[in-house]
Amino acid sequence: MNFIKVRTYAEMSKIAADMVEAQIKSKPDSVLGLATGSSPVGMYELLIEKYRNGLLDFSKVRTVNLDEYVGLSGDNDQSYRYFMNDKLFNHINIDKNNTFVPNGLAKDIEKECEDYDKVINELGIDFQVLGVGRNGHIGFNEPSSVFSKGTHLELLKEDTIKANSRFFERIEDVPTKALTMGIESIMSAKKIILVSSGEAKRPIIEKLLDCEVTPLIPASILKNHPDVTIIFSEN
Ligand code: GLP
Repeated sequence: MNFIKVRTYAEMSKIAADMVEAQIKSKPDSVLGLATGSSPVGMYELLIEKYRNGLLDFSKVRTVNLDEYVGLSGDNDQSYRYFMNDKLFNHINIDKNNTFVPNGLAKDIEKECEDYDKVINELGIDFQVLGVGRNGHIGFNEPSSVFSKGTHLELLKEDTIKANSRFFERIEDVPTKALTMGIESIMSAKKIILVSSGEAKRPIIEKLLDCEVTPLIPASILKNHPDVTIIFSEN
């Protein structure tokens, strides 16, 4: 694992955005695995700026998102589909038909998971962007006794619900279930970056650098991947 430590969120975002830019320039039809949460927002802003300045063309890019809350429609401003449209897709020349987010309203969850895995397998992820939860989750793969394989339903841990409640009016409004890409799919990406910032994330980042690979810290699996860069900013 490469580890880059910087002082500010802006520096972290710039490094990450430059890496995405290099990826798209080297392969204009790249498949990007994308994440939600606060960590990649600055990177998305810079990608929009690069597009506006004529530096980047997203017309051939395809994206697969890590996860989605169960029970929220894409129109709900708390859904991850809404987040992605709002923070990135609405502002660049990507074809929305080429952007994939699990359907949190799917009646048949099992089928939705199978279909999402088919999409991931057919596309193949070139470049995966990750954040990390304070408990080490990636996507919504919570600490567990085994590493997950494909897309599945996850019951969110109390700590995750608490952490994500900052985006909701009341903690009771935070969905308790989510669909998430599995660990094996994340690991299938050719290249992975993990962005994370601030004091609250320092303990998990330090643990990650030190620990053995264990499903109790899902992000620790990244140690087994040949091309991972963690970018951590102190502020
Ligand atoms: C959520 C998302 C993850 C994200 C994590 C960290 O639970 N499902 O994909 O990486 O939170 O979020 P943040 O970047 O806001 O700290």
